[in-house]
Amino acid sequence: MYVVSVINYKGGVGKTTMTANLGAELANRGMKVLLIDLDPQASLTFSFYEPDDWRDRLRDGRTVKRWYDGLRGDDPAPALGELVVTPGPANAHLKGTGRLDLIASHLQLVDIDLALARGVADGDEYDAELFRVRGSLDQGLHDPALDPYDLVLIDCPPNFNVVTQSAIIASDHLLIPARADYLSTLGIDYLHGNVRELVDRYNADSRRFAKIRRHHKVAPGIAGVVFTMIQLMAQRPIAAHQGYMDQVRALGVPVFATALRENVTLFATNTPRGVPVVLRDRVTAPAVREELRQITTEFLANLQPVGASA
Ligand SMILES: Nc1ncnc2c1ncn2[C@@H]1O[C@H](COP(=O)(O)OP(=O)(O)OP(=O)(O)O)[C@@H](O)[C@H]1O
Ligand SMILES: [Mg+2]
Repeated sequence: MYVVSVINYKGGVGKTTMTANLGAELANRGMKVLLIDLDPQASLTFSFYEPDDWRDRLRDGRTVKRWYDGLRGDDPAPALGELVVTPGPANAHLKGTGRLDLIASHLQLVDIDLALARGVADGDEYDAELFRVRGSLDQGLHDPALDPYDLVLIDCPPNFNVVTQSAIIASDHLLIPARADYLSTLGIDYLHGNVRELVDRYNADSRRFAKIRRHHKVAPGIAGVVFTMIQLMAQRPIAAHQGYMDQVRALGVPVFATALRENVTLFATNTPRGVPVVLRDRVTAPAVREELRQITTEFLANLQPVGASA
C-alpha cells in the first residue's frame, strides 16, 4: 500500500481537485483507493457527498475528527477502517473491479488541531507528545482493515499544522499541486525545506522516544510538482506560466511533464453530482480528461517501490 499526501501551503491551487480526479482515475484503472480528507473545509468530502447527506450520515460518527478526538483520549478512538465510506455516484461510474472509498472530514477538525497543540506542556513532555501525534496517522494506517487498499491519497489543508505534519510522516510520497505564479514558486522551495526539517526532527525524536514507539525511519519522497490551472495559447502554456514552470524545474524538484489547464466552467460545476471530471461522459472536455489521465500515468511512474529509499 502506498500512502501519498497531496500538499501545498498555498490555498486554492487545486489540491482537492487533483486528489479527487487522481483517486477516481486510479480506481477506474482497477486500483483500490482510499481518499482521506484532512481539511476542515471538507471540500473533498463535499465533492462526493451533499452537505445534507454529510450532516445526516457522516457528521456524528464517520469523519476523521472522531479519530483525532481519540488521540486526546476523550472518547475511545475508532480504528480508521471503521470510518470508511463508499461514495455511491463516483463508484457507479467506475469500470472493472476498482474502488474509491473516503474517510470524510469535519468542519470542526480545526479545533482538534488547536487542542492537540495546546494540550501539552513545554519541555520533554511536549516533545514526546508532539512526536506521538505526528506519528499517529502512520500508526493508524496500519489497521488491517485497510490492507486491501493499493493507495491512500490524503488531501491536506493549506497549512503546516500538526494534522498536516501527521500526514507527511505517514506518507511514502508527497504530490505538490501548484499554480504557475510568483507566490507558488516561492512556496514550493519553502515547503520542501520545512518537510525536510520535519522529517529530520521526527527521525531524531524516534530514537529519543523509542519507548513511545518502535524506532523506524520515515523518508517521504517527492512524487513531483504538478502544475494546475495553466492558461494555454495555441495549445502551449502562456509565456508567464511557462517562465514559472521553468523556475520550479530549476529548483531541482521533479515536475510532471503534463500540466492541467484552466477550465473554470468545467471545474466549477459538480454535475453530475459527486462524479469527478475524469469519470464524466466522453463528450465532456476531452482534452482536460486526457491531461488528467496523463498526470495519473506519470504519477504511477513516479512512485518508487515502497522501502526502496530506506
Ligand atoms: N484546472 C482548473 N481550472 C479551473 N478551475 C479549477 C481547476 N482546478 C481547480 N479549480 C477550481 O479552483 C478552486 C480551488 O481548487 P481546489 O479546491 O482543488 O484547491 P485546493 O488547493 O484544494 O484549495 P484549498 O487550499 O482551499 O484546499 C475550486 O473552485 C476548483 O473547482
Ligand atoms: Mg483543498
